[in-house]
Amino acid sequence: LKEIRYEKDLAGKKILVTAGPTREAIDPVRYITNHSTGKMGYAIAKTAAYRGAQVTLVTGPAEEKPPMFVDLVPVESAKEMFEAVTARSAGQDAIIKAAAVADYRPKFVNTEKTKKKDGDMAIQLERTDDILKWLGEHKKEGQFLCGFSMETEHMLENSRAKLEKKKLDMIVANNLKVDGAGFGTDTNVVTLITREKETELPKMSKEDVAGRILDAVFGMERKEPE
Ligand code: CTP
Ligand code: CA
Repeated sequence: LKEIRYEKDLAGKKILVTAGPTREAIDPVRYITNHSTGKMGYAIAKTAAYRGAQVTLVTGPAEEKPPMFVDLVPVESAKEMFEAVTARSAGQDAIIKAAAVADYRPKFVNTEKTKKKDGDMAIQLERTDDILKWLGEHKKEGQFLCGFSMETEHMLENSRAKLEKKKLDMIVANNLKVDGAGFGTDTNVVTLITREKETELPKMSKEDVAGRILDAVFGMERKEPE
């Protein structure tokens, strides 16, 4: 049993984690989604639970198996994730939003299967609500809000802008162009950005990244090894 090797240093903490992609329906047989598999978010939820926290995992359709000892809340669309997260946000000590939430959804969802016709087709998209931005605007005293940022260019500037705009305490920045980072991999290369500093972590397993994120969220950062 792996979990007994962990020190229960997060006992008494309530943490909400989101993970995975969302699915935005076009019609009863088709949807728009992204490449998120849920690995990073699931690693955070699992590690936090092993460390004794009370964890709620709001997850889109991920490819990971549900971790033990967490309250699992499965959702599909960005709208369902918004509702599940905002309904559970108030009592949380920390909210960690690793989910890759769709920014747009089809404006009109066909109730019947769309039949093909000659020529091109366009799908009109509308914006989804930004869950993190809502959380930043409704943050409870002492609550720590951590977002993720996926970028292919200008990673630090763009991520810092999201930290400000969404009133976050920390953002975990991913550069999708670096080897061993991003979707579906077992490793990740991230930079932890807070108001005060930037900490670039070396390439490590998503489990180890999860541990480092939790240390930073709860102010338990370890000294960098020499
Ligand atoms: N996020 C969210 N709700 C949305 C979109 C994003 O809560 N509707 C959260 C993600 O879970 C992530 C953070 O916002 O923690 C940043 O997501 P990202 O896609 O990197 O940034 P965006 O603000 O959506 O900007 P863009 O996609 O244009 O870079
Ligand atoms: Ca986005």
